[in-house]
Parts: sequence; C-alpha cells; structure tokens
Amino acid sequence: MLATKTIAALATRRVPGSIRLKHTVPDLPYDYNELEPVISAKIMHLHHDKHHAAYVAGLNAAEEKLAEAQHRKDLAGQVALQPLINFHGGGHVNHSIFWTNLIGEKNGGGHLHASPLKTAIEAQYGSLGALSQVVNAKTAGIFGSGWGWVTYNPAIGGLDVVTTANQDMPSTLGHVPLLGIDAWEHAYYLDYNNVKADYFKNIWRVVNWKDVARRYDEAVAHQKK
Ligand SMILES: [Fe+2]
Repeated sequence: MLATKTIAALATRRVPGSIRLKHTVPDLPYDYNELEPVISAKIMHLHHDKHHAAYVAGLNAAEEKLAEAQHRKDLAGQVALQPLINFHGGGHVNHSIFWTNLIGEKNGGGHLHASPLKTAIEAQYGSLGALSQVVNAKTAGIFGSGWGWVTYNPAIGGLDVVTTANQDMPSTLGHVPLLGIDAWEHAYYLDYNNVKADYFKNIWRVVNWKDVARRYDEAVAHQKK
C-alpha cells in the first residue's frame, strides 16, 4: 500500500553515510489565534505544541527502535514496530495537512473561489453546503477517535468523502487527502465541550480552500500522468 511505502521510506531515510534524520513539527503557517473564534489559541497551542509534537517524538523513537531491529536482523521485531510507526507517522502526516487546510476568516477562510475544485464539488454534490453536510454526517459517525476527509479517489476519478480511524491516513484506502477534519476530542473539547456538532459546523468557516484546491489540482495532474 502507498501508506506502507511512505512510512517505510520515512523509516529508512538517512543522510548519506552519517546521521539519521529526525522528523520535526512544522511551524504553524499563521499565529495561534488565527482561527479564533472557531478554534481558540489555547487549543492551537495544545494541539500543535503538545499533541502533534508527541506524534513526532513517538515516530522518531519508533524509527530508532526499527533501525536497531534492522541492525540485529530481527525481522519479527521490525514487523512488530509497524503499528507504532503507522500511528505516530500518520499523526504527523495528518496534522501537517490539517494546519495548512485552515486559515482565519479575515484571511479568506471559508471562501471557495472559482477553481476546478469548486466545479467538481458543484458537479458531484450540488454545492459546498451539501458537501459539508455529507462530511459532517460521516465524521460524526466515527466510533472513537479519527478523521473525516474530503479526498480525491483515483478509483472513481473524482471527489470522495471518507473517514479513517485513529491516525490512519487516507492513503491507506488509496485516496489522496485534500481536506482533513480532526475529530479527536483534543481538537475541540476545550472550546466546545461535548457539543462536537458545533465544532463540525463551525470549522468550515476557517477552511483554506486555496490549499484544498491546490491539493486537488495536484491529485488530478498526478492521475493524468
Ligand atoms: Fe489532532
């Protein structure tokens, strides 16, 4: 699977002849209060600086163990580490997408401009509002922690809406992620308590459609190659 290949590539990445590369948490592309009042600075500090950082630390630690197991030629040990690498690696990848998927309302958040993506949304779902209802309904149905996604599905040559459990990535389904909605409690609980539906309703106000449209264009171009 693509995800396994991606993780395997991450796990064996090295500077030639020397030091193992460590993954790092990307800086937010905006201030911590950028998404207020939809998502508070308090949540962004915790979510980015603590939760995302924990996935990166977990991935780096798991990769070190994997390197040791490879050195020992311990195949069973290497296989046993894959769930840990998938979880922390997925957490790193998913959150890295999530931050760039968002932008404040004052900077264009929520505005779907004319683009091939807009055309595709209207052709397949009728309107952005209709798409958001599909996404919110599916994401609300996640049992436990996970993500809701708008994806490009190469199998149908168009947009799709899926959910993934825990930190699984859409690539594990063969889909290209375009927009991710983090449905873990850590993403909303401080602001919305148990009213998760309000978080899902409001987050559309801070979607960076320029970023989503760019990902769509790239996915379509890749498909045509
Ligand atoms: Fe998260």
